[in-house]
Amino acid sequence: MSSLFDFDAKPDAYAVMGNPISHSKSPLIHTEFAKQTQQRLNYSAIQVDAGGFEQAVGNFRANGGKGLNITVPFKQEAWEFVDEHSERAIQAGAVNTISFNDDGRCVGDNTDGVGLVRDLIDNHSVELAGKRILILGAGGAVRGVLGPMLALQPSAIVIANRTEEKAVALADEFDRGEQLRGCGFPSIDDQPFDLIINGTAASLQGELPPIPTTAISNSTCCYDMMYGKAPTVFMAWASEHGALKVLDGLGMLVEQAAESFFIWRGVRPDTSEVIASVKAGL
Ligand code: ATR
Repeated sequence: MSSLFDFDAKPDAYAVMGNPISHSKSPLIHTEFAKQTQQRLNYSAIQVDAGGFEQAVGNFRANGGKGLNITVPFKQEAWEFVDEHSERAIQAGAVNTISFNDDGRCVGDNTDGVGLVRDLIDNHSVELAGKRILILGAGGAVRGVLGPMLALQPSAIVIANRTEEKAVALADEFDRGEQLRGCGFPSIDDQPFDLIINGTAASLQGELPPIPTTAISNSTCCYDMMYGKAPTVFMAWASEHGALKVLDGLGMLVEQAAESFFIWRGVRPDTSEVIASVKAGL
């Protein structure tokens, strides 16, 4: 590992791989983390074409690369590529962080769930223990966060999805009995939740999942895993219905990056100023 004062050594190389990748905020975030913690490293964004993942990772590693973040659509291929999986990667069924260790091992981890949980608890004082939580969506984004959320012992998590079978199958997979159930939108409980998390891709299309208004009250916190310059339609819906807190996923993005940075460098950056600067640049 090279330090800031190790002028002769080449900076350690890290990157994010995905497709598309030009919109990625990860180079900006990790460059800010590196400055703040005085770590000498380069972090770039690499666009990988379909079918080219293994080759791209192999090239990166052969050139001395130390670690990668993996984003859409390669988290599954990353799972297959690595030699070892962390417990968090196993729960998520996907890898978003790869470390090429000095002993030659290539380890896959997943920092998405811990990123969400840290953003909720540390940045927004939203507790999960003993709470009733509604999660919308049953795709990779939701699977990635379920393990770390369940570990905090909420009293109940309901996963509601447009395609009901996917929600039921996901709940069955985690096998938590009464604590976790999957359903379609029409079967969402008609009493308010403490926390509603939107993990669907609906915000990307400017659509609102059909959430019954009985699920929200003025003590409900609402969190969209998406973020953008303007509030998403889900966030607008939450505000209209008087939610206690309305939050976007920018903090989750920065917190999952901070966890990757910690895995690679052994130093935990301060995320608050980085969240503020990424927000200012949207
Ligand atoms: P990701 O990895 O981002 O989770 P995904 O696996 O394609 O992506 O999952 C997208 C999720 O958003 C799914 O839960 C999807 O519902 P279906 O399983 O029924 O497809 C959900 N989704 C996408 N568009 C939606 C919309 N317009 N309204 C409600 N749910 C939507």
